[in-house]
Amino acid sequence: MALSKAQQAVPLLSVSKLTKLFGSFAACNGIDLEIAPGEIHALLGENGAGKSTLVKMLFGVLQPSEGQISFEGRPVTITSPGEARTLGVGMVFQHFSLFEALTVAENIALSLDPKIPLAKIADEAASLSKAYGLPLDPNAHVADLSVGERQRIEIVRALLQNPKLIILDEPTSVLTPQEADRLFETLFKLRAEGRSVLYISHRLEEVRRICDRATVLRHGKVTAPAIRSRRRGLAGAHDGWRRGGRDSPGRRSSAW
Ligand SMILES: Nc1ncnc2c1ncn2[C@@H]1O[C@H](COP(=O)(O)OP(=O)(O)OP(=O)(O)O)[C@@H](O)[C@H]1O
Ligand SMILES: [Mg+2]
Repeated sequence: MALSKAQQAVPLLSVSKLTKLFGSFAACNGIDLEIAPGEIHALLGENGAGKSTLVKMLFGVLQPSEGQISFEGRPVTITSPGEARTLGVGMVFQHFSLFEALTVAENIALSLDPKIPLAKIADEAASLSKAYGLPLDPNAHVADLSVGERQRIEIVRALLQNPKLIILDEPTSVLTPQEADRLFETLFKLRAEGRSVLYISHRLEEVRRICDRATVLRHGKVTAPAIRSRRRGLAGAHDGWRRGGRDSPGRRSSAW
């Protein structure tokens, strides 16, 4: 999935003045955001900043009160997760939605066309899990799996639909450091394939290490235009950030 220059020039996803009101409270308040093709873009912010609310709107779980979402340059209305998946958006939620009594493959089947045979889903899940370094037995029961394994189900489920954008909501909060490192390798592979990742985290060091750009939310608003990582997504890099192409460490610390 190599990207041409023209493809790279158009944001994969752009969001303009996106707002979500719960009663009179604005969980997201006029958010502008662009995600380029083939980048790992971090969404940072403290508890309650509006991160999950924003991505739920991008995945059709919540409807915006105001504002516009565009995908590949076209305005879109995403009224359900099914529509988001069709568009090319996959999501790994902060709180998983898996049925413990069912197998991995049965859980994955629930989000797919019911006409697809379970054996085919199990085969595809097994080959994706192998290809992306996400070890998973499609016939295991979810009740017997660790949190890290459960997360892999969600990732494989998202990958089965060949997404252009994968959103992960605080994926490392439930992982051991080793599991987190393995997840980062998967994310680098997705990026190398030209897919985009929107990566939510509280952990600035982790974001510095793996992400190309970061957007910081506070009280439902973007604090400053997206900050660019100085050394694009280098594992182990702890070398700071640039905002808008210019060094601005002062702005960085004031934003976070
Ligand atoms: N369905 C809802 N009804 C009312 N208020 C809500 C609802 N969902 C979220 N909120 C509020 O909106 C704000 C943003 O919540 P959100 O879950 O988006 O934050 P977050 O940045 O994901 O936080 P965390 O890091 O804790 O996951 C919070 O104050 C939260 O209480
Ligand atoms: Mg959240």
